Amino acid sequence: MVLHIRKIEFGTEAYKAMLDLRNEVLRQPINWPYFVFGQTEYEQDFIHLGGYSSDNVLSACCILTEKSADEVQLKQMAVAATHQGLGLGQQLLMYAEEYARTKGYKRLGMHARKSALGFYEKSGYTIVSDEFEEVGIPHFKMEKVL
Ligand SMILES: CC(C)(COP(=O)(O)OP(=O)(O)OC[C@H]1O[C@@H](n2cnc3c(N)ncnc32)[C@H](O)[C@@H]1OP(=O)(O)O)[C@@H](O)C(=O)NCCC(=O)NCCS
Repeated sequence: MVLHIRKIEFGTEAYKAMLDLRNEVLRQPINWPYFVFGQTEYEQDFIHLGGYSSDNVLSACCILTEKSADEVQLKQMAVAATHQGLGLGQQLLMYAEEYARTKGYKRLGMHARKSALGFYEKSGYTIVSDEFEEVGIPHFKMEKVL
């Protein structure tokens, strides 16, 4: 399945759909407070990427935020439960990497959930921290030179 990926503008209906997907995939399974539309002003300057399947339904999403002149951080990587394991996550990650490269960043990093380490390892990311807790679950910092 080919993912059609485009930037999502903050505060739009598409952004609202992205929050819904993030809540469903990232928050509901760990029983963590949901993102609320209208209460995420801190995300205004983030790059929001949405991946749409052929039926034009939002199936995957992620965020890029600048950490330094050289490094960009990937956040909120999520693929709809019904579409996981079909290569969509990898397509979105490759797109995010290319996007970051064209903006001049040298490294892409993320706080990876322990349960998703294998996904990032498949795309060449390595663990660069000890285990730490975020949203109540174990994470590691991972990164890759672009
Ligand atoms: C993790 C996630 C983003 C991966 O996206 P996906 O579309 O399901 O993954 P893909 O189909 O593109 O998988 C690419 C490769 O990674 C592997 N992979 C995917 N998820 C994996 C996981 N959780 N652990 C180990 N390997 C994984 C796949 O087997 C595949 O390997 P292959 O190329 O040898 O076949 C998605 O499953 C998801 O949203 N999970 C729940 C939320 C989450 O954990 N998000 C990440 C937070 S850091």
